[in-house]
This record gives sequence, structure tokens and C-alpha cells, in this order.
Amino acid sequence: MGLKHLEEIEKAKAHFGKILEEQFTRIDRMKAESEFVDYASKDQIVIGIVGGDGIGPFITAEAEKVLAFLLKDDVEKERVVFKEIDGLTIENRAACGKAIPDDVLAELKECDVILKGPTTTPREGDKWPNIESANVAMRRELDLFANVRPVSVPEKDIDWTFYRENTEGGYAVGSKGVHVNDDLAIDFTVTTQEGSERIIRAAFDYAKKSGKNKVTVVTKANVIKTTDGKFLDTAKAIAKEYPEVEMDDWYIDIMTAKLVDEKRRSQFKVMVLPNLYGDILTDEAAEFQGGVGTAGSANIGKRYAMFEAIHGSAPRMVDEGRGQYADPCSIIRAAGMLLEHIGYMDEARKLQMALDICGNFEKKLEITGRDTGATGAEYAEYLMKTLSQDNLEEVFNSYQK
Ligand code: IPM
Ligand code: MG
Repeated sequence: MGLKHLEEIEKAKAHFGKILEEQFTRIDRMKAESEFVDYASKDQIVIGIVGGDGIGPFITAEAEKVLAFLLKDDVEKERVVFKEIDGLTIENRAACGKAIPDDVLAELKECDVILKGPTTTPREGDKWPNIESANVAMRRELDLFANVRPVSVPEKDIDWTFYRENTEGGYAVGSKGVHVNDDLAIDFTVTTQEGSERIIRAAFDYAKKSGKNKVTVVTKANVIKTTDGKFLDTAKAIAKEYPEVEMDDWYIDIMTAKLVDEKRRSQFKVMVLPNLYGDILTDEAAEFQGGVGTAGSANIGKRYAMFEAIHGSAPRMVDEGRGQYADPCSIIRAAGMLLEHIGYMDEARKLQMALDICGNFEKKLEITGRDTGATGAEYAEYLMKTLSQDNLEEVFNSYQK
């Protein structure tokens, strides 16, 4: 081998060495991790509101109004406090050359839970520097390891809850691959014991608690033998701790096919899977429910949690002056997951009913994304009016028949 290649290999090895060091630091942090925060015992809960980019500030403002409405008494008592965080914009991130500017990260860490609007993800060739996604960075920095994405279509007997691993796999060092030389590029994928155990346990705990009692593990362990193999082996070991929960395992390719199979798909309940497969499969799954625009997503860690819509920031809507017509329903659904996470179960349930009444049954207002439909603010008013009816439950039940 030529001298040049030997030099290139040495450089790549040094780079790989640094990645390993970082991962060991992360593993130590995971090992030192305490238990999940108990929100019920907290005197005060700080909810961070991050507008993000494009339509983000428009729709998060509406979600904040709805939260403030539902939590009125506790906001008055300052048991719940909102903290608006403005700096997570692509302009600001590009100017600092960082996925999350340091001051913004410090502000995020002052919150307990965060409601986040969509943020632009730069990619090679667009007008922004190709910095890391703010989403991916936030999940890592706040250690939000469980990405929980429910998809429900009762009339098709679909009731799925995805537990997507959120900090490892191809995403852990997705911005740290090496161009060894012009002929060779290498990326890395990471699976750790701690990281696998905690997400798999979260999925089994949920399956048990919800009485769904079934977990499907999705990997490609027949080909990606080391990392996916470890994920699957860990799942098999953990399954033994949950005798009441049935476990099966599928490969990601056939799993994407089976979600479309009407005879088979209702049998899936709780799915747990590595990061990238989870990214892909949850977009497919959301499509049955009406598209990614209808889904909310919870990013949960032991200390922090972040809730977001899974659609993009639609900068074109804002450029064309239509930001106020953006649909806030998906982020409001995410706000519902936030309420549930911090222990406001009743409020979360009411919000869910109101979203269904307004969006699926009564449909007094429609959002079209332009001035032919309602604005997000008008829609939020509609939701709050629906929520303030004393007989909300009855109204909801009348539509169920
Ligand atoms: C998601 C998104 C993100 C991801 C992007 C925006 C980085 O697709 O939340 O699923 O890949 O995780
Ligand atoms: Mg995605």
C-alpha cells in the first residue's frame, strides 16, 4: 500500500479513536443516570416554548394558548410556568455554526419539558451551512432517548405505538463520518448496552402498563449483525423479565410491507426499534392516519422531555405570507402528550376529545393553509370553545355512536 493511503488510514483511525472516546463518555453518563423525574412531586413545572423556524412560531403560539387555557388555575398559582425560547432559528444557528447555540441550550436546560416547533434541517447544497439538525442535537444534548409515536386509526383497527430509539444508531455520529479520501467515505452506527436496555425496557413497561402485552422488535439483525444483533439480543433478554408480554421480532424490510397488509397489521401493538428504522417506519405508519402532518411525537428522557409535531417548517408558507393559516393541530396533539407526561391526565383526555370533535366530527372550521380556510388562531379559539363546554364528554360520546 502506498504511503499516502497509510497516512489516510492513520488519520481516519485517530478520528475513530475520538468517536470511541466520546461514546465511552456518553455510556458513563447513561450509567450514572438517575430515575425518571417525578413531576407530581414538583412544586413548579417549567414548560419551554420553542418556536423554531418557518410556521413554527405561528403554530406553537396557538398550542401555548391552548395549554394556558387548560392549565389556567395552575398557571395562576405559578405551579406551571411558560418560558419562551426564541433563539433556535436557522439564522441564529447558521450564524454560530452550531446546531444549538450555547445560550439556547442553557435556556432549554432550565425547563422541565419543552414544546418545540419544527426546525429547518440544513443539507448539502442549500443556502445554509450544512450544520447538524437541531432536532438530533437536542435529543442528544438532553438525552431524550425514547421517541414515542402513537398512530391510531380505529376504523381500520390500527392502534400502534412506536418506541423509536432516539440517540444512537446511525444518528449518534451521523455528522461525524469520515471522507477517508475521494474514493472512500465511512459513516458509523452505534449501539450500546445501556442505550438498548433503556429503550427496550420503556417499550415493555408501556406494553405491560397499557395491557397491550405485546412488543414487536424490528431490526435488520440478519445483515447488520453486530449493532442490530446486539439490539435484538438485548430485547430477548429483557423479554424474560416480562412473562406477561409476548415478544416477536421482524426485519425492517418485511415490517414495512406488513404495515400495509390488512390481514396482519392489526396484530402489531407496541414496536421498539433502532433510530433510523424508527424514523422511516413512523412516517409510513403516520400515513395511514392522514400523513405526518397529523402526528405528534414525544421525545422522552429521564430528566427532560420534548414534544413536537413531525412535519416540517414549511418556509414557503411564511415567504408567501400564509404563516397564520398553518395548521396547529399536530403541535396541539403534541401538547396533549406533554400534558399527559407531566401528569395532567384529565386535561390531556379532554384535549384529545376536543381535537377529535373539531377535526373529525363537527368540523365547523376547516384549515386549508390559505385564506380560503380558518387561521390557526381561529382554530385554537374553536378548540377552546369546545373545551369549555360542560358536557364535552357527552358531545364526544354522541359522535362515537
Ligand atoms: C423526525 C425527523 C428528523 C429525524 C429530522 C428532521 C432530523 O425526520 O423527527 O422523524 O430524522 O429524526
Ligand atoms: Mg422522520
